[in-house]
Amino acid sequence: MTSPTRNPARNSRISGFHKKSPAERLAIVADFAGLDAASAARLSDTGNLDLGLADRLVENVVGSMNIPLGIATNMKIDGEDLLIPMATEESSVVAAVCNAARQCYDAGGFTSSMSGTLMIAQIQAVEVADPHAARLRILGRRDEIKAVCDGCDPVLLSFGGGFRDVEVRVLDSQGGPMLVTHLIVDTRDAMGANAVNSMAERLAPHIAEWTGGRVYLRILSNLADRRLARAHAVWPLDQIGGEAVRDGIVSAYHFAAADPYRAATHNKGIMNGVSAVVLATGNDTRAVEAGAHAYAARSGQYGSLTRFEVTADGQLSGSIELPMAVGLIGGATKAHPTAQACLAILGVTSAERLARVIAAVGLAQNFSALKALATTGIQKGHMALHAQNIAMMAGAVGDEIDRVAAILVERGTVRQDVAQAVLGDLRGTGG
Ligand code: MEV
Repeated sequence: MTSPTRNPARNSRISGFHKKSPAERLAIVADFAGLDAASAARLSDTGNLDLGLADRLVENVVGSMNIPLGIATNMKIDGEDLLIPMATEESSVVAAVCNAARQCYDAGGFTSSMSGTLMIAQIQAVEVADPHAARLRILGRRDEIKAVCDGCDPVLLSFGGGFRDVEVRVLDSQGGPMLVTHLIVDTRDAMGANAVNSMAERLAPHIAEWTGGRVYLRILSNLADRRLARAHAVWPLDQIGGEAVRDGIVSAYHFAAADPYRAATHNKGIMNGVSAVVLATGNDTRAVEAGAHAYAARSGQYGSLTRFEVTADGQLSGSIELPMAVGLIGGATKAHPTAQACLAILGVTSAERLARVIAAVGLAQNFSALKALATTGIQKGHMALHAQNIAMMAGAVGDEIDRVAAILVERGTVRQDVAQAVLGDLRGTGG
């Protein structure tokens, strides 16, 4: 990738880099890093994302990074069959959703619900002499606060959204009492960050005036616990392989519920599915991830986002609840043509529906991971695709990839040095 001519006098202080075109920036980067022409050409091939659009979405663009888009089949949610686009670089993630969905399809698939589409914006005030009285002064201004907030976004209002409530907390912080105002805003089909951040900024001078304090931060909270997506499914014993499998999955959940070390991995698996759909639809993966993990720690101990139980008639029951701040309008969701195509595949027409679908995908993902872990182990399922990756890394091309991968799996040794030797044998060059 890098040529031996890597520029020895490289300097990262590049004035006016942001004002250059992507091609000019790429030439600077190629010179800096000694990229060969093929690597530079690969970077500038932005695939299904127009370079001009990429350049408007983020800063200092030189190209794009493509991630595979897979489709999870077999999903039925609230009686509706759906195909789920998932953008992920990790093998087995898409297959896991397909398998989990197949095993509960005949029993009705997933049901889902949502607590609402409310976002929270926070306004931090410090140096307030009488924080408890100031709290009441703010609460008494509810009508004024509503007018200021709703005045920020008439479009949101026209779609039935807008200010819903104000709450004020007195926090006991290291720097003394801190007064934190929460604006509760219904952002409907928008993720809502821009809407609530604008409201918080517009209201902040009023908060300073009413409290006599100094206002610093004015920003949304990613702990979107007024925007909880929920999903549930029942997996019949005959579909999952019997009582031992069911009990293994329930015990795996108990493990995650009792131990943050395990819960982190358990929830990471859930986010494999969640983030893949969030990304495919152009939504903010980090916002959803932050919300999920904060919600998992709401009791004071980090725990599981899912629960697995046994129904009265002995079947496996799984459920999930997590904050899901996703939107259909604004940002990359609207601008990125692939995100639009993914939304069309999903057929969702509201942010709420999208959030519920994503929750179901997270539950499906978790079911498959726990089932594999509690039975054969995770490596068996990973092996086939992993072997293909290793075969490619060893230099296999075309048909060779499948042939080398099959031999690696058969031997139970998926390593690059072995792949190179196998490839050598296939090519008759002895590795
Ligand atoms: C790997 O990406 C995800 C898992 O580790 C999840 C889990 O352990 O539950 C398999």
